[in-house]
Amino acid sequence: MALGPQVSDLKETLLASIAEEVMSCQNCKLGATRTKAVPGVGSAYAHICFVGEGPGREEDLSGIPFVGQAGRLLDRMLIAEGLSRRDCYICNIVKCRPPNNRVPEPSEVAACSLYLYAQLAIVEPEVICLLGNTALRFFFGEQYSIGQVHGTILVKDEQRFMPIYHPAAALRNPQYVQVIQSDLRKLAALIQRTVD
Ligand code: SF4
Ligand code: URA
Repeated sequence: MALGPQVSDLKETLLASIAEEVMSCQNCKLGATRTKAVPGVGSAYAHICFVGEGPGREEDLSGIPFVGQAGRLLDRMLIAEGLSRRDCYICNIVKCRPPNNRVPEPSEVAACSLYLYAQLAIVEPEVICLLGNTALRFFFGEQYSIGQVHGTILVKDEQRFMPIYHPAAALRNPQYVQVIQSDLRKLAALIQRTVD
């Protein structure tokens, strides 16, 4: 309907204003050691949001999520399922790189979480794909494990989630490539059904 373009412009504008806040944020100690903050990229009206853990070295230098080796692998796997970054919005639990890629601390995750909630509320994706245990446990708690729930649909507050192995796991252990690929196939099929 006629409101469509204005509504999507509003979403873009809201995402851009969050990104601007993130870029100068010093709400946790990761702000002191980052090169660039990495707010998120992609379509404001994406059907899928991917949520990773936090920026790595290449993301810290470029300000763009998932541009390093793990990101390039993810891109290839998305393309194989007929998905591309343009269909998706991609961000992380923490927006600044933890030194030496350590797991973000609870205080850092808590400090950064408002940005993530705001991004997800704006995009309103059909499904949120959680990449790895940090993203999974942020939403579902410490008792959850990717090994047990990857490729399944979890629902919380009427939002659908699909946890999958982090692509970095597949770089360390190539047997995960096939597992991630088949989970992404389920994700793509899920979106196909909702969009058609
Ligand atoms: Fe701010 Fe998040 Fe960066 Fe911490 S990690 S400084 S809360 S943007
Ligand atoms: N790993 C992540 O979790 N996020 C990125 O942006 C890159 C690598």
